[in-house]
Amino acid sequence: MLNSLYPLARSCLFRLDAEAAHHLTLSLLRTASRIGATKLPGLCTVRAPRTVMGLHFDNPVGLAAGLDKDGGCIDGLAALGFGFIEVGTVTPRAQPGNPRPRLFRLPEAGALINRMGFNNGGVEQFVENVQAAHFKGVLGLNIGKNADTPLAQAADDYLYCLERVYPFAGYVTINISSPNTQNLRQLQDQAALDALLATLKDKQQRLADQYKKHVPLVLKIAPDLDDEQIKLIADTLLRHRIEGVIATNTTLSRTSVTGLQSADEAGGLSGKPLFDASNAVIRQLYAALGDAIPIIGVGGIFSADDARAKLAAGASLVQLYTGLIYRGPALVRECAQALAEIPTAGASIT
Ligand code: FNR
Repeated sequence: MLNSLYPLARSCLFRLDAEAAHHLTLSLLRTASRIGATKLPGLCTVRAPRTVMGLHFDNPVGLAAGLDKDGGCIDGLAALGFGFIEVGTVTPRAQPGNPRPRLFRLPEAGALINRMGFNNGGVEQFVENVQAAHFKGVLGLNIGKNADTPLAQAADDYLYCLERVYPFAGYVTINISSPNTQNLRQLQDQAALDALLATLKDKQQRLADQYKKHVPLVLKIAPDLDDEQIKLIADTLLRHRIEGVIATNTTLSRTSVTGLQSADEAGGLSGKPLFDASNAVIRQLYAALGDAIPIIGVGGIFSADDARAKLAAGASLVQLYTGLIYRGPALVRECAQALAEIPTAGASIT
């Protein structure tokens, strides 16, 4: 029912400012989950089980980070049938993000531009929300740095968040690829990345001993990298034995949207125009990593074929964001059913 109503819901939501529509949708989902409406028959998760990074996934279709930044709507989102849900990006301290408007639709292109800037309520509130959720699938917790933390101290923010979220995470994503926090992407540079991953890996080991639980670390990277940079990142991931990589975040490129309304807004572009660029990064990563480190493919998935293409490029799991806004929850089931027919692909290993 939810699926057949979405075209109508979308036409109402698209009359609202994009961020207002976002908050309204999340609060409706939260209410639906509180009153038990999300337990209705027909909303069950498609079964396409696989084990990746030592974690069991009911299906390989996940929600990408950024939609539920505070982890306050996990159960409502779970009802849409995701095999895993990633929430965040969370920072140590609450911060407002950039001034509004900061989220723009480009409907002709099936795209969004956002410059949210990690608006979130801080990691303490985040952990409370995560603890209150009943979702039993894999939960990814995505961490970042505060806007006013100097880049030289960025590791302290990641360490603080890692320590706070570790006991409650299925995996932890280190987000160094948002274009909306000044200079954040510089953490992808070789020396900075090497130092950051060494520190976080060391902390992970200590937390694993403390909690008697190994939580995989996953690095999320940008699409705006050249071949040499991707190769260096892949080598660094292998050297530090990072358990997974997410490709990709949003792009700064505007080549395929020039001339469209809102195309010149600052921020990261997501959706259809990102599809080929993120697939190219996945292919290059897979060429360098093989089956050693699984890839979570994200960027521009709008159909079952798009999800299949991510697996063909080398991804083991996929995530959705912009496609969900344009196509609605039917997209989750459509992709999960399509991928159920492909039991293993790319680096789909334990
Ligand atoms: C994002 N994305 C994102 N990623 C992340 O790691 N942390 C975040 O806080 C956010 N925030 C965010 C806000 C908005 C409004 C959008 C549209 C996106 C990036 C997202 O997770 C994903 O990587 C990209 O959007 C590409 O996937 P799609 O949207 O093309 O399916």
